[in-house]
Amino acid sequence: MVCSVISLGLRGVEGYPVTAECALSGGLPSFDVVGLPDAAVKEARERVRSAIKSSGFDFPVSRITVNLAPADRRKAGTVYDLPILVGILAAGSQLSLKTERDSAFIGELSLDGRLRPVSGVLPMALAAKRAGIARLFVPADNAPEATLADGLEVIPVHNVRELAGHLTGEQLIPPAPVWEQEPSPVQGPDFSEVKGQEHAKRALEVAAAGGHHVLMSGSPGSGKSMMAKRLPSILPDMTRAEALACTEIYSVMGLTSKEHPMVRRRPFRAPHHTISAAGMTGGGSNPKPGEISLAHNGVLFLDELPEFHSDVLEVLRQPLEDGRTQISRVSGSVTYPSRFMLVCAMNPCKCGWYGHPSGRCTCTEQSVRRYLSRLSGPMLDRIDICVDVPSLEYDELSGSVPPSESSAVIRARVNAARAVQLARFGPDGPACNAQMGPRELRDYCGLDQTCRQLIRGAYDRLGLTARGYDRILRVARTIADLDGAADIAANHLAEALQYRPPEHLRA
Ligand SMILES: Nc1ncnc2c1ncn2[C@@H]1O[C@H](COP(=O)(O)OP(=O)(O)OP(=O)(O)O)[C@@H](O)[C@H]1O
Ligand SMILES: [Mg+2]
Repeated sequence: MVCSVISLGLRGVEGYPVTAECALSGGLPSFDVVGLPDAAVKEARERVRSAIKSSGFDFPVSRITVNLAPADRRKAGTVYDLPILVGILAAGSQLSLKTERDSAFIGELSLDGRLRPVSGVLPMALAAKRAGIARLFVPADNAPEATLADGLEVIPVHNVRELAGHLTGEQLIPPAPVWEQEPSPVQGPDFSEVKGQEHAKRALEVAAAGGHHVLMSGSPGSGKSMMAKRLPSILPDMTRAEALACTEIYSVMGLTSKEHPMVRRRPFRAPHHTISAAGMTGGGSNPKPGEISLAHNGVLFLDELPEFHSDVLEVLRQPLEDGRTQISRVSGSVTYPSRFMLVCAMNPCKCGWYGHPSGRCTCTEQSVRRYLSRLSGPMLDRIDICVDVPSLEYDELSGSVPPSESSAVIRARVNAARAVQLARFGPDGPACNAQMGPRELRDYCGLDQTCRQLIRGAYDRLGLTARGYDRILRVARTIADLDGAADIAANHLAEALQYRPPEHLRA
């Protein structure tokens, strides 16, 4: 007798339906799993055998063959424990699946028949919904996350006995309530603690509002790392679609939990400069997302930028352009979303004091150039906003200046500017000004006579490239949005032009 049970698999952060076909036939007792299973899937046999026995059922004394279709895709992980168990019990007529034709099953089994949570539940639940599956049986701890895929009935299962009771109709398990998102408090340090540096704070506000890439350059101890750490407190709120996209990635990495099934604040990732290229983009024989994907819809902060290996910076170029990263393996290629806001901090030279009024810099011109040459031109060309962070004057530090604005006040302006962008581009357009393509630039970044003259003068003087020109328009658009202006005016454009890389970085 053959019985088919629907389940789900993962390829990258995309789910897809899998059918577990279980056949019981005569012959010497055996138990085989085919359909490109990895080691964890093969080990399902031992867990299933033990779970069946400890839940009070008989393990069939026959030749058992399980085929995971489509058989040409590699199956990994422990999610197939539950569908295999259900298939074997149904094929041996110990359970009936008559009422569950449009149901799917995922979950890891423990030897005593309890269900353990698995990773990647949200992408699998979304795939189930797309495939028209009505009901999803998941380990109880995964249920809150599965309910995020609106419109799918989620049945939380604690153990095999409970599931059997439900399938026979003895004791139905009530569907899990849809997980309700509460307003998420913004945690972490506040911008009010940063004294002075008004120019840099303004640049970070513009960057947060439009999703622009930023580079902060300045002498040691001027507050670059301090301000970057406070960036999460002014990032705009995420839309539900953005939050779900982040949650899918975190789910695949096993970083979601029963208490926190959804990523609700924009991610802030700050990998150390010793990170490898694979750690940055993702990889491994069974590919996993890297830092740039964990930073999707959030911030990737690279402190001490020139210390990163040059190959690590090179691999960022393509994702910065496309918003996704592709990893090729013999078994096929997977694509991960990785659209992030890049924030970098660096000293202007090796000793850190280049250009400081005290004249402390001990570097030769040559060593300054060598230090900066680690940043490739094309990489710098992708940065929208460059800002100098000078050492503080004593008066600024000693507190004789008015206190700084709090993050909440800045975030309110950022949120307002982001709302303008959302309304302008609609749900299918770019998420923010930094992502505007040629069409949006044409439609929303028209310049009047004064602005055209201003940018024409700057074009030759600053040696702009076509990419640099577009970038200035995008930043100017964000500054106009922060100002509540319908059109870009000369003062917006002039501020955007200030954020060009300084002379010594362009050389
Ligand atoms: N603008 C500032 N307002 C208040 N405190 C500051 C400011 N700048 C620096 N500090 C103090 O100095 C410490 C060091 O600053 P931070 O680590 O941000 O420097 P940095 O610019 O990143 O230096 P480096 O180039 O060496 O990494 C901060 O933790 C903070 O205590
Ligand atoms: Mg620092």
